[in-house]
Amino acid sequence: MKKVLVTGGSGFIGSHTVVALVESGYEPIILDTLENSDPLILEGISKIIGFAPKFYQIDCRDKTALWSVFQQEQPEAVIHFAAYKAVGESVSEPLKYYSNNIVSLIHLLEVMDRFECRKLVFSSSCTVYGQPDTLPVTETSDAHNAASPYGYTKVVCEQLIRDLAKAGCPLQSAILRYFNPVGAHPSAHIGELPIGVPNNLIPYITQTAAGIRPKLIVHGSDYDTPDGSGVRDFIHVVDLAEAHVAALRWLESTALSADDFNLGQGKGDSVLEVVNAFMRVTGVSLPFEIGPRRQGDIEQIFADVSKAKRELGWQTKLTIEDALKDAWRWQLRLAERS
Ligand code: WQD
Repeated sequence: MKKVLVTGGSGFIGSHTVVALVESGYEPIILDTLENSDPLILEGISKIIGFAPKFYQIDCRDKTALWSVFQQEQPEAVIHFAAYKAVGESVSEPLKYYSNNIVSLIHLLEVMDRFECRKLVFSSSCTVYGQPDTLPVTETSDAHNAASPYGYTKVVCEQLIRDLAKAGCPLQSAILRYFNPVGAHPSAHIGELPIGVPNNLIPYITQTAAGIRPKLIVHGSDYDTPDGSGVRDFIHVVDLAEAHVAALRWLESTALSADDFNLGQGKGDSVLEVVNAFMRVTGVSLPFEIGPRRQGDIEQIFADVSKAKRELGWQTKLTIEDALKDAWRWQLRLAERS
């Protein structure tokens, strides 16, 4: 059974990817600080797969700890999620973001090289595109236009991986650019666990519908979009998790040393469309009002996903409606626990 180290494996996308790995015959080993997660998620993973995957509570900046895990486990591949990802926080605390997100990758790459672990799936983001000039955005679009320090940590990490490839380093990497991950596992054993007040749209919607937040503010209705609200490419987290398995399979067969892939639905939905879809699919009313644009937001983005379909043999199977239903079921499960 192929051992795959999953850093940040108890996070939102990481936990769903651990489940997908087990279902595809891999042995995931979770590394996480639990700084942005909760043991609840590890319990949820175990309920879905029927056993507790190996877990090491370590920080990828701790090179000694990382080294001991590689010595113990000798993984054949790494999926690297561990990073800070709150756009707004990165603006107010850039050093925290550059330090964690870049030093973690540097230490990981150094230890991987020492233990001859040659396959890396790297968690990147559509945020590297900023506001693209043309839509849908393809992988050849300029990917050095991030609108936040968080986004620039992804630009720098992608560049580091490419420079290693150019230098002839015997590493093979799949750089995955996520659009907007949403939803939860249909079992409602795992899902998104925002710390404090959610930044992202879907958890804010479900917490408002659950009465935790008084109302949703739709950030802006004067964009040059069909209904004036922002447009994004929302991808179900279960589809996104499957893409990581497809990327591992690609790494096992490709001759390339590095390549990047857009992972999205391949279409845009507006904020107001999502709000109305939530009320339609759940039957729950959602108090919301239109507010001013949010600083740092781009107007609209959605992906050209033909490369992932062609090269990875992957495409989404689930819809935004599926994601909204699963996110709401997860929110209700959380309410049962509290
Ligand atoms: C989506 C839309 C908001 C909250 C971020 C990161 C990106 C990725 C996904 C990591 C926007 C609107 C939101 C609310 C609203 N993360 N909105 N009211 O900003 O597109 O992307 O998360 O990789 O890197 O940048 O996601 O969910 O915050 O916003 O109207 O209360 O929803 O204005 O148009 P975003 P988001």
